[in-house]
Amino acid sequence: MPSLSPEPWRVKVVEPIRRIGRAAREESLRRAGYNVFGIASEDIYIDLLTDSGTSAMSDSQWAGLMRGDESYAGGRNFYFFEETVRQIFGFPHVIPTHQGRVAENLLFSTVLKPGDIVPNNTHFDTTRANVEVNGGVALDFVIPEGRQARARHPFKGNMDLGRLERCLAENAGRVPLVMLTMTNNSGGGQPVSLENVRGTREVCRRHGVPLLIDACRFAENAWFIREREAGQSGRSVAEIVREVFSLADGCTMSAKKDGLANIGGFLALRDETWVERFKNKLILIEGFPTYGGLAGRDLEAVALGLREVLNEEYLAFRVGQVTAFGEALARIGVPVVEPIGGHAVYIDGRAFAPQLPPEQYPGQALTVALYLEGGIRAVEIGGVMFGKPDPEHPGREILPDLDLVRLAVPRRVYTNTHLEYVADVIGGVHRSPQSLRGIRIVHQAPVLRHFTARFEPI
Ligand code: F0G
Repeated sequence: MPSLSPEPWRVKVVEPIRRIGRAAREESLRRAGYNVFGIASEDIYIDLLTDSGTSAMSDSQWAGLMRGDESYAGGRNFYFFEETVRQIFGFPHVIPTHQGRVAENLLFSTVLKPGDIVPNNTHFDTTRANVEVNGGVALDFVIPEGRQARARHPFKGNMDLGRLERCLAENAGRVPLVMLTMTNNSGGGQPVSLENVRGTREVCRRHGVPLLIDACRFAENAWFIREREAGQSGRSVAEIVREVFSLADGCTMSAKKDGLANIGGFLALRDETWVERFKNKLILIEGFPTYGGLAGRDLEAVALGLREVLNEEYLAFRVGQVTAFGEALARIGVPVVEPIGGHAVYIDGRAFAPQLPPEQYPGQALTVALYLEGGIRAVEIGGVMFGKPDPEHPGREILPDLDLVRLAVPRRVYTNTHLEYVADVIGGVHRSPQSLRGIRIVHQAPVLRHFTARFEPI
């Protein structure tokens, strides 16, 4: 499974991982109620639960931790962080937060009125929850190809500009801002084109509505623009990033992804209108505006990570590794969302296990099998995560269109050999359908049930 570009680093420190025996894996699944969120990470061999906060830091970031200035106010790491965000994204106002959802909380708890609408290509769960908890309505306007597992389109994360235009025309005064999530995590890590950002900007401008970008995976998105969009191949990633963000009024960011850090985030804005209110709220929930819930050393690690992530050898390896992993699975007949996204490979659970009815949660069944067979942790993004009780048919559920299993690849952590092993295990499960058992829910919380639900194999 060769990726196109080799790793632009060598290993300086190793962290042992172990594969416990099958009987121990069985026992640990049983104790966790067949929910992989309940398994201790020491009992996981390859952990593909998320690419968030799981990056390996560079020697320069570790050295940066020693330069932490832990002064309550005005610490030097903040000024370096602020300068870095200004340079890369071009927004003068920079508000640090300890992770992305706090930037969303500041934004929506301040600017939304009950009944307001927030369009997005696809809201990530925490973005949607922050809109809804503040009385807003979160709408997803990704293009139709973005909703189909195997529709081939280079920019499946694009906003449907016709639907956005109609929404803004019909709801004048009710849309405080439009968002664009890059890459589109909930839609398979698919990118948004520069042309589509320009188009979204133009629709927003005509209706006088600000555009904010959810920038979690901004560098991976820019890499796809350079690779796939006409006229972009000669530009540097940094230049593309600057242009993309010059079209927006601000961004929310979780530095746990393309910040190459284990914690951190920010909200950045062009205009100062909302800034004072955000800072006042920040002081209430996170801390003083020069640390925003982070240690000074964490700000340093994020600032260095934001600079490193723009390295093009790094991005060629990163996106190449995820693509090669997904293509290796596709070659052995595993149904994956295509084209392969930037940070993860998504398996289509219903196509993988057609013998299981959708009500038996095939994606969750596969997630359980991957742990049992190989000590691998993935995450179901399907019926368990999004299923809702069906008001017309008591005891039944309304299930989402897609029942996916996400294999998120942490940055700079696993080698291609690790991913070959994962592909082998998945291939084995695929060849022996009897290793998959349908799943029933035996206990669930009223909201965000997937984190704590308990299951039983059928
Ligand atoms: N926006 C997107 C697109 C995300 O993927 C995430 C987190 C957030 C916002 C929230 O950031 O976790 O720092 O508060 N995604 C993680 C994931 C949790 O596994 O995809 P956060």
